Amino acid sequence: MLRGERTPDAFMPFGLGPRMCIGNNLALMEAGLIAALLLRDVRVTVPDGGPTGLHAGVTLRPDGPVTAMFHR
Ligand code: HEM
Repeated sequence: MLRGERTPDAFMPFGLGPRMCIGNNLALMEAGLIAALLLRDVRVTVPDGGPTGLHAGVTLRPDGPVTAMFHR
C-alpha cells in the first residue's frame, strides 16, 4: 500500500495499530475495480479547477465542494 518515501502513518483511512481495519486490502482492491468499471466509458472534468486545499479530519478530504462533469 505504501509508495515512495511515505511513512506508514501518512495515509490512514483504515486506522492504525492493533485495531486497524482488517478489510483494508479488500476495500482498496474493490475501490480500484469499482473506479475502473465506472470510469471505463466516461471522461471526468473538473470545470472550476477543483479544490484549493485539503481538510485533514478523520479522513483527508477536499476543503470545499468539488463540481465534476461526466462525459460519455
Ligand atoms: C473503504 C472501506 C473501509 C474503511 C474506510 C474502513 C475503515 C475502518 C476503520 C477506520 C476502522 C477502525 C480502525 C481503528 O479502530 O483503528 C475499521 C475497523 C474494522 N474494519 Fe474496516 N474499513 C473499510 C472496509 C472494511 C471491510 C471491507 C471489512 C471486512 C471485509 C472491514 C472490517 C473491519 C473490521 C472487522 C474492523 C475492526 C477491527 C478491530 O477492531 O480489530 N472494513 N475499518
